[in-house]
Amino acid sequence: MYPRSPLASIQKFHQELIALRRDLHANPEIGFQEVRTSGIVAGALEALGVEVHRGVGKTGVVGVIRGQRHDSGLSIGLRADMDALPIKEEGDAAYCSTVPGLMHACGHDGHTAILLGTAKYLMQNRDFNGTAVLIFQPAEEGLGGAKAMVDDGLFERFPCDSIYALHNWPALPAGTIGINPGPMMAASDRWEVTVEGRGGHGAHPYQTIDPIVVAAHIVTALQTIVSRNVHPVESAVISLGHIQAGSPTTPSVIPSRAHLVGTVRTFSDTVQKLVESRMRALIASVAEAFGATAELKYHRSYPATINSAQQANFLADVATDLFGAQNVVRDLIPSMGSEDFSFMLQKRPGAYFRLGQGGAEQGRFLHNPKFDFNDEVIPMGSALFAALVERSMPLEK
Ligand code: NI
Repeated sequence: MYPRSPLASIQKFHQELIALRRDLHANPEIGFQEVRTSGIVAGALEALGVEVHRGVGKTGVVGVIRGQRHDSGLSIGLRADMDALPIKEEGDAAYCSTVPGLMHACGHDGHTAILLGTAKYLMQNRDFNGTAVLIFQPAEEGLGGAKAMVDDGLFERFPCDSIYALHNWPALPAGTIGINPGPMMAASDRWEVTVEGRGGHGAHPYQTIDPIVVAAHIVTALQTIVSRNVHPVESAVISLGHIQAGSPTTPSVIPSRAHLVGTVRTFSDTVQKLVESRMRALIASVAEAFGATAELKYHRSYPATINSAQQANFLADVATDLFGAQNVVRDLIPSMGSEDFSFMLQKRPGAYFRLGQGGAEQGRFLHNPKFDFNDEVIPMGSALFAALVERSMPLEK
């Protein structure tokens, strides 16, 4: 077993971390507006004596903790996201959101509390030879706060040999760690198509080029890309999230155009490029076959979140020492969701892992209006982060 687990020490201030987490939960802020949240984070770090850097990537905060020694020159980055979502909370907790239409529906309040727990433990012990960089990131939910921090010189200003981040996971039992040494989450791309036809009277369709019929053929044709073009052992998803043409108040009007918007999820560059090129070809040629025109607009949002094998295996080993092999899933199936920690993983080797918290069996999934972070798992997250620091930069070799 791990010679000196941080867990027992961190459990001593569990209640304090719960109070902090619930305060954040009651006061959610959306991406790049985490002014109160980042102020609380910076204040808590300063109270611990941590060197604090505010305003990294707009509302991001970085805390730097040096070990008892740091002549090893080693450094490790730990990331927590801080933002909430534009969802109206339907939970009944005493600490539920006080901000109309906003809530912590993804548990980033818990992630922030966890990393502050790690900070407190590391400041009390400093049993490592190197530098821990605590990265409190804004705007994970769709706005790319991780990229904003990277673009703001995060890794030039705060060098990190390796980086780690966690996300709570309701589908894993509380206290279970889930990871794998490769893809953890997918690349998320947004696509949009406008089909240009020729409008007219619904009683005289032969005088028109009906964009709705063309759009329907495009939707059907797109279904063949995953089944007929992508290699059967690779993964891809093409989903349509929006389709609009005409008006329900004018049923006898064939409109001039139809509008489609959707998402593509992939794990590899090769598959991503294949899907985009097949979509472009199919959409243009299907439209042309009907005498219409259609053009694909394809926007790459978040890249795939790919763990480095070395850091993922190291994390799984440390988690096994702390919590036992029965509580570590080392071959977790990747999610087709996305995560902007991927922008940091493009710059530094590292690993992204799941901290099981249960709740899925009661329907409390991420982004659900009844979601709540499970406070019981806070010390485990804090302890695992702390152990990564102590283990990757030991005082004695
Ligand atoms: Ni999240």
